Amino acid sequence: MNKVKCIGILTSGGDASGMNAAIRAVTRSAISNGFKVKAIYRGYEGLINNEIREFTTEDVSNIIQRGGTILKTARCEAFMTPEGRRKAYEVLKAQEIDALIVIGGDGSLTGARMFADEYNIVCIGLPGTIDNDLYGTDYTIGYDMALNTIVDCVDKIRDTASSHNRIFFVEVMGRDAGFLAQNSAIASGAEAAIIPEDKNNADQLDEFIKRGIRKTKSSSIVIVSESKKDGGAMYYADRVRREYPEYDVRVSILGHLQRGGSPSAADRILASRLGEASIQAILEDQRNVMVGIRNDEIVYVPFIKAIKEDKPIDKSLIRVLNSLSI
Ligand code: F6P
Repeated sequence: MNKVKCIGILTSGGDASGMNAAIRAVTRSAISNGFKVKAIYRGYEGLINNEIREFTTEDVSNIIQRGGTILKTARCEAFMTPEGRRKAYEVLKAQEIDALIVIGGDGSLTGARMFADEYNIVCIGLPGTIDNDLYGTDYTIGYDMALNTIVDCVDKIRDTASSHNRIFFVEVMGRDAGFLAQNSAIASGAEAAIIPEDKNNADQLDEFIKRGIRKTKSSSIVIVSESKKDGGAMYYADRVRREYPEYDVRVSILGHLQRGGSPSAADRILASRLGEASIQAILEDQRNVMVGIRNDEIVYVPFIKAIKEDKPIDKSLIRVLNSLSI
């Protein structure tokens, strides 16, 4: 028997294009199924500080096309402590919120999982991150838009790279995952991608140079996944400058522009489907799951799996890029 009457919704962690479409879908399908909806501002931070107000269907009008998140977002350290989560629970009780929908990435769903383990509250997660790194879902909200933005930027960089016969190292986001780097490299016709998952390759830069691309092409673009470990694009550019001084090298770090912009149609549809499915999940008495999509079907993934298991990258994508970049 489902006892949920009032659903709280928040966005947390890095914003992703399509979060607003998800907020709209959750709000509207919750209200049409008879639930009350309360909007929690600034993620877990706003939950702890009681920055909450009731939402009507009008509150989510005219937002499906907007990037960012109208609920604002934050990375909240206090929620990672038991005291922070206790405060959050007290606020939820006072607000009479009995289910929480969290739209965010790995860190946000880790918070939701801890919270759900400690308190009797229904928690449902929606994968909202440009990194596409959550296990159990083929795509995350915001990934498609970020991918398209990167491809658009690389197309522009290609014009200047080929005019000057240069090697460009373009650094893209993704945290510890190479989905954005590998697929943007394929989509933009880049000569190589350096990603964290390609562990067979002791030195991906050497491999790229050895493939002899400079003999057949006057300019090259290498997409590099951001990395805390080796310093990303700067590191590889410095190495080429040292080891191959004959090459003219430049670096472009795309940064936060990858997170902005009006969501693509694919992200709007994904966010709408997942948002609506999160309410279905509550109606079906699901709890402590992330709602994802696999083979175009809605799936429920236990939090523990979504956050703890590594999402593998399809290794054939590496072969595709290498075969097509000769
Ligand atoms: O997780 C999304 C993401 O954009 C990562 O790709 C990136 O490493 C990180 O967030 C950047 O975080 P911030 O906006 O806090 O600098």
